[in-house]
Amino acid sequence: MDRSYFYSIMNGQGTLDYELYLNTSQLLACQKDFADLANRDELQFQIVHQVEELWMKLIAYTLLDIDDYLQQENTNRVVTLFRRVHVAEKLMIEQLALLETMSPKEYQEIRLRLGNGSGQESPGFRVLLKMHQPLWQSFQACYLDRHQLTVEKIYNSEYSHSDAYLVAESMAEFDELFQKFRFHHVQLIHRSIGLGAKSLKGRSVELLNEGLRTTFFPALWEVRNQMTDEWGARYGVIRDSIGGH
Ligand code: HEM
Repeated sequence: MDRSYFYSIMNGQGTLDYELYLNTSQLLACQKDFADLANRDELQFQIVHQVEELWMKLIAYTLLDIDDYLQQENTNRVVTLFRRVHVAEKLMIEQLALLETMSPKEYQEIRLRLGNGSGQESPGFRVLLKMHQPLWQSFQACYLDRHQLTVEKIYNSEYSHSDAYLVAESMAEFDELFQKFRFHHVQLIHRSIGLGAKSLKGRSVELLNEGLRTTFFPALWEVRNQMTDEWGARYGVIRDSIGGH
């Protein structure tokens, strides 16, 4: 096929209503010119990062709405919007797999051109790292403190599958999917550049493992430990066999 012919029509004219509404002329100009690409894998490398930034923008915007609805105790809205967040997080995880179609050597060629750029500078990721605290404060004030509830009560001693429990589980899922993204991202690094090498910032990528151990809502994970210890104490450290042996 004649590449130059298809390159010339790939971005469209930018004048039709569809193109104007979506601002395709700017959107499709956000990638490097074809002539400047390091190799034929670089376009997807840039596009995957750009798409992930867009999903993180949508997630952050949706979390702001969720915070408003938490303060109004509008559980239906909170749960529906968290569902949107969860779907976007799953897309973020799934889309990392595109980069596994890039060979290690071709990534090294792209990497030569990245300057000192690092995912740590991602605006989307940085804003998401700041949002869990205000969300937790709203949940605690409006769903727990206002009703004299605690995490322990909604999960265990006063468990009734209440609104507070539903919201807490939506928050736990947001947290878990964020961790899964981090885990899959580390696997991607393992596959493309190896986990033992220095990153572009000169630090070992194993530093990322610290992120893997960090959760947004530790109280929602701790309650599971407490319940297992408490319920387990009823039968001691070792249980009797259910077969009576
Ligand atoms: C082949 C593909 C990729 C490689 C080899 C890679 C490599 C790395 C490395 C080595 C780091 C450690 C931090 C540093 O640079 O010092 C990092 C961090 C990061 N990367 Fe990637 N990355 C890839 C793709 C992606 C994609 C598609 C995203 C999409 C959002 C992404 C987002 C991030 C984020 C948010 C961090 C910071 C993580 C944190 O601070 O916990 N990376 N990446």
